Amino acid sequence: MRSSPEPRFPSIYIDFLIAQRKKHHSTSAKDQKPKGNLALSPSSQAFNLVAKDIATLHFMLLGIPVLPPLFQRSFSGKTVVVTGNTGFKGSWLCLWLQKLGAKVVGIADEVPTEPSLYKLADLESLIEQHWIDVENLPELKSVIGDTQPNAVFHLAAQAIVSTSYENPVKTFSTNVMGTVHVLEAMRQLKKGVGVIITSDKCYDNVEWPWGYRENDPLGGKDIYSGSKGAAELAFKSYFHSFFRDTSGVRLATGRAGNVIGGGDWAKDRIVVDCISSWHQGSAVAIRQPKATRPWQHVLEPLSGYLTLATSLMDDQKAHGQSYNFGPEASQNRPVEDLLIDLAKAWGFDDPSQSYEITSPPSEWTEARLLKLNCDKALHDLAWMPTLQYEDVVRMTSEWYRNWHDGKVSDIRKFTDSQIEEYESVAQKRGRTWAS
Ligand SMILES: NC(=O)c1ccc[n+]([C@@H]2O[C@H](COP(=O)([O-])OP(=O)(O)OC[C@H]3O[C@@H](n4cnc5c(N)ncnc54)[C@H](O)[C@@H]3O)[C@@H](O)[C@H]2O)c1
Repeated sequence: MRSSPEPRFPSIYIDFLIAQRKKHHSTSAKDQKPKGNLALSPSSQAFNLVAKDIATLHFMLLGIPVLPPLFQRSFSGKTVVVTGNTGFKGSWLCLWLQKLGAKVVGIADEVPTEPSLYKLADLESLIEQHWIDVENLPELKSVIGDTQPNAVFHLAAQAIVSTSYENPVKTFSTNVMGTVHVLEAMRQLKKGVGVIITSDKCYDNVEWPWGYRENDPLGGKDIYSGSKGAAELAFKSYFHSFFRDTSGVRLATGRAGNVIGGGDWAKDRIVVDCISSWHQGSAVAIRQPKATRPWQHVLEPLSGYLTLATSLMDDQKAHGQSYNFGPEASQNRPVEDLLIDLAKAWGFDDPSQSYEITSPPSEWTEARLLKLNCDKALHDLAWMPTLQYEDVVRMTSEWYRNWHDGKVSDIRKFTDSQIEEYESVAQKRGRTWAS
């Protein structure tokens, strides 16, 4: 006689419920005080609790689990390496992965700015940090070999266009050889998934009005752009030579651009320049007010990178591919519009007082128009952006306002609350990864 099947209790589901319970019980009354616009209202908190209890009941009565959201299923309990984790995007990515339940291992040569989100959020106390130059192959191989990660996100780069004019050799060596070294380390690892972060600037930008597609020619007239195009070529060569058929590793590249959001202090970035100038009570100098950019909140490409890694974990479809992650075309805005909107949010009565226009250095080549076509990410990964331009401006200005006014003593909590807000908007707008 056949014995009745064991009830299936997927451990990820149980872990999720336990984590939610722990989180709820450890949340003090103080933590539940409203934090700006991002706080959960008492009714939402009550709703969340009821929803979790319904999920538990659902499982007990029907034996059908209501699974936690996709990213939690993919990253909870996994070991994840993030290179360049002390920078702007890397710090946000570590905080998000940490919230998802991953064991995060950071690799960076230094903390590149002062202040930094990395220090303000005290990330070093949350993750395993290695101070390594990605140009040092033996050390990189050793950390990745010892760590045995399930996933690697390669973000380490010399990421500043103006610095690439001052230090072209270093820009190429970090951005190209750093990428080659990560690929070498994964070749030795023989397992896991890797997302290599390049840039929208990797394309040969001829300033046409259409969005670039992943199969458009690579290029780059300035050093930074060229180094990112070259990193893409290195990736392709490695894929066809070593990873395509036999390796246990699955890899892809992510191309995004013009990311904004709280916690960035890298030089010569428009939002950072605004905040620094306005913080000191002066107008910000801008070079190309009419240049149009695909502005997006930092969490948007990060959700793309996480979706890409999840897809690589699941099947072969994205293996060896490149994906654009950008806003909808209707969300592109000229620099001047972004400045005016940020200035209003910052509190300028007359936003025209917030900036002055200067000439760019003569040797600089800066594209005035750059758009991405993200149809492939939608088709293959079901990824699409979540936020509207207005959300991006609001979240960015709220983050810096709170920091500037010293209102938020715990930057980590505030940043976490923006991640939660983003997840919740994504769920409401039906993004696959959020459910
Ligand atoms: N911020 C943007 O708007 C944007 C746009 C397109 C692409 N990107 C790409 O996204 C990635 C992250 O960008 P970001 O804005 O966080 O950059 P960032 O400058 O804030 O951070 C760069 C990170 O790389 C590390 N790093 C630099 N050189 C290194 C080396 N030799 N060895 C080890 N670590 C090194 C830094 O310490 C830091 O942790 C980069 O690859 C960048 O090119 C960023």
